[in-house]
Amino acid sequence: MIYLKTQEEIVKMQAACDLVSRTLGEVAKWVAPGVTTRKLDDIAREYMLDNGGRPACLGYGGFPATLCIEVNETVVHGFPSGYELRDGDIVGIDTVVELDGYNGDSCYTFEVGEVEAATRELLAATRQSLLKGIEKARQGNRIGDISYAVQSYCEARGYSVVREMCGHGIGRSMHEDPEVPNYGRRSTGPLLRNGMCIAIEPMITLGKRHIVIEKDGWQCRTRDRKPSAHFEHTIAINGDNPLVLTTFDYINQSLNSKSN
Ligand code: MF3
Ligand code: CO
Repeated sequence: MIYLKTQEEIVKMQAACDLVSRTLGEVAKWVAPGVTTRKLDDIAREYMLDNGGRPACLGYGGFPATLCIEVNETVVHGFPSGYELRDGDIVGIDTVVELDGYNGDSCYTFEVGEVEAATRELLAATRQSLLKGIEKARQGNRIGDISYAVQSYCEARGYSVVREMCGHGIGRSMHEDPEVPNYGRRSTGPLLRNGMCIAIEPMITLGKRHIVIEKDGWQCRTRDRKPSAHFEHTIAINGDNPLVLTTFDYINQSLNSKSN
């Protein structure tokens, strides 16, 4: 069942998405060598609660934390821990906040210190593929148009698309219909209609596309242990002009003031 949101609901989605974006902006200030991923989780949880939000991942299907932490070969759904970030790591930070009954979902993959050029290029391409997908998120197109745009952009550059994990509809629930795969064929899948809210989240790897899910049922890594990148925005279908409800602006501000 796909729920189309009213204008009033889109306003609430926008507020939840702004809070999740600001949370990632706050976390961005702390990403550095030597910081534990558990510390980042504490920062995010406190920020959400201080701003009237509910950390929606915490307890979701038994998930143990506010943030999904994706260091290097971790693709998705990693747990915060005592691990201290190291120079040269990449860390994807994926989280959802619920505010006033609606959910905002976003993910950004950070560089920790100096990262190898090939990995930096993977991050740039994954981020660009998200924009390519968003560009196709227009009324009258189909989910497959988004999927194809992401896949073709990444595979043309020699990267692999994780297939087992997808984007999704989002609203009152974190995960709603439809699924939004990062691979697929044009003009296939559910029709995009005004008021649909979806999270687009390419998970793209430097090596092969195969993944392993740990025995805990959550933590997911590349089989070949090559790096994996992940960026995510929550958007609303709005004619030819998708509303990008989440933003990386707060992250960019934090990163810029760190480097000054
Ligand atoms: N963006 C992630 C997803 O849609 C957020 C996961 S939160 C979790 O799967 F609680 F499910 F881990
Ligand atoms: Co998501």
